[in-house]
Amino acid sequence: MSGKEKTTVKAVIDGRQCEFPQGITILEAAKSVGIEIPHYCYHPGLSIAGACRMCLVEIEKIPKLQISCYMTVGDGMVIHTDNERVRRARKAMLEFHLVNHPLDCPVCDQAGECGLQIYYMTHGNYLSRLKENKVKKTKKAVQIGQHVMLDQERCILCSRCVRFCQEISKSNELGIFQRGDREEIDVFPGTQLNNPYSANVVDICPVGALLDKDFRFKTRVWYLESAESICPRCSRGCNIEVHYNLAKPWKNEGRRLARLKPRYNSEVNDWWMCDEGRYCFKFVDEEDRIEEPLIRTESTVRKTSYKEALELAAEGLRSIAAATDKEIAVLISPRAANEELYLLKRVFSDQLPGTRLVFSSATPFEPTEDEILRKKDKNPNTKGAGLIGLSPDSADVWQLSDLKDAILAGEIGALYVCYHDIPGLPEELSAGWAGAVERIGLVIYQGTNHCATSEKAQIVLPAAAFAEREGTVTNFQGRVQIQRRAFAPLCEVLPGWEIMQSLGAALGGSYAFGSAEEVFAELAENELAFAGLSYEIIGSSGCVANGAKV
Ligand code: SF4
Ligand code: SF4
Ligand code: FES
Repeated sequence: MSGKEKTTVKAVIDGRQCEFPQGITILEAAKSVGIEIPHYCYHPGLSIAGACRMCLVEIEKIPKLQISCYMTVGDGMVIHTDNERVRRARKAMLEFHLVNHPLDCPVCDQAGECGLQIYYMTHGNYLSRLKENKVKKTKKAVQIGQHVMLDQERCILCSRCVRFCQEISKSNELGIFQRGDREEIDVFPGTQLNNPYSANVVDICPVGALLDKDFRFKTRVWYLESAESICPRCSRGCNIEVHYNLAKPWKNEGRRLARLKPRYNSEVNDWWMCDEGRYCFKFVDEEDRIEEPLIRTESTVRKTSYKEALELAAEGLRSIAAATDKEIAVLISPRAANEELYLLKRVFSDQLPGTRLVFSSATPFEPTEDEILRKKDKNPNTKGAGLIGLSPDSADVWQLSDLKDAILAGEIGALYVCYHDIPGLPEELSAGWAGAVERIGLVIYQGTNHCATSEKAQIVLPAAAFAEREGTVTNFQGRVQIQRRAFAPLCEVLPGWEIMQSLGAALGGSYAFGSAEEVFAELAENELAFAGLSYEIIGSSGCVANGAKV
């Protein structure tokens, strides 16, 4: 043998001669060539437990069946993943897993995406030989943390949840107690499953033993549709799926957005997301959503069309621009997508040059941070705003403190607020001047939900929420990622980029973008940091912006 180390191995798997990297497990090797081996305890993000025995395969010259999640591919191995002996073993293992499993499917939230149901149909399909009653009587529907419900009877003891708490959250709340057929999953005495990543155990539990308290009994999973998106709650930009059910009418009777689930991206969040992000979506279907543009006078507030509201806004802004002693300020939020920020910058510099652009990344959220995923900056697009030239580091962009001084000096005649709630800002930022905003002649508020600022603004422009519009956000690494539109906005509500385009038109400009993608195409042409990018190139997993690599 030469001194050079061998890095690949050759093996025959179900009759196919294949080459695999050395050290790969049989289960992963099979998956890489399109062969799915059933498994419960194996999870690519966790250590190997070898607990469920569902992944048994036959390897020629080894007398006993082997677990493929643990066994690595050896040079010259001949592996059978689907012969009669393997199928019989799988069926027998499934029979063991189901022998004491309660007949809960009709009332179990996991039904429709349950590993037991799926494998019974694909690998079990036997007639029950059980004549006795089911014997397990353990805890049912116990709340073990703020977000998670435990049903011990349904647990198949795969230990994925235990390993998650040991290896990922490192919080160690869960354990397997007792021995033999009395084994059960539980939290350690005096502990609750309240780590910041607790609901990931619901995602990885292959059965209905760990359920999401918030999602429980809301809808059947087969009514759900899904769209790829990016978590809007912090600058990590975890890749997620938005699960929604449009059969649920909005308000009182149900919510359209049913749940957020993490989506694998090895560069950003692996398989996980934090609880703050997972449950941040409630505002989308909250009762306080702004449904129509509003015009407010001292004594009245009335609903109107975007056309009238934007014409009035344009008229007010133009008259302040013409005044010699007053200025226009726009308070920008990195909650907005790149397309919206780009058009905002373009419209104000084309139509109302001299407008003061003010940037603040302040949010009402606690600046939690850790080594796992959570970032202190609770905005999804601070980096994008910076790359478009809208951060306080950019020339001519004001900080919140500059705006405060100008407002207190009576220099601001019109204030356009995007997504920020000024009185709702942390006290150290808003103290002493939030009330002064009320004395500004024209306040225009653009956002998704009512807040103290919208309650005082003369013109209110409702904007689509992240799940109701298409757009890109740039995470702290400079990775540009797409938030896909899951469902149509409420009533006639417009996405932010379209509001900016219409405002530009009302101010006398000519803008003719047909979609967020078209806006992005122009952005990529004009902003060096985004050069060469397009929605197609960004794709599902995102793409690092030019020159933004960290
Ligand atoms: S609760 Fe779920 S994830 Fe945890 S051991 Fe039981 S089946 Fe596995
Ligand atoms: S770490 Fe940030 S981006 Fe990821 S899920 Fe949590 S809040 Fe969302
Ligand atoms: S997946 Fe291999 S033993 Fe569970």
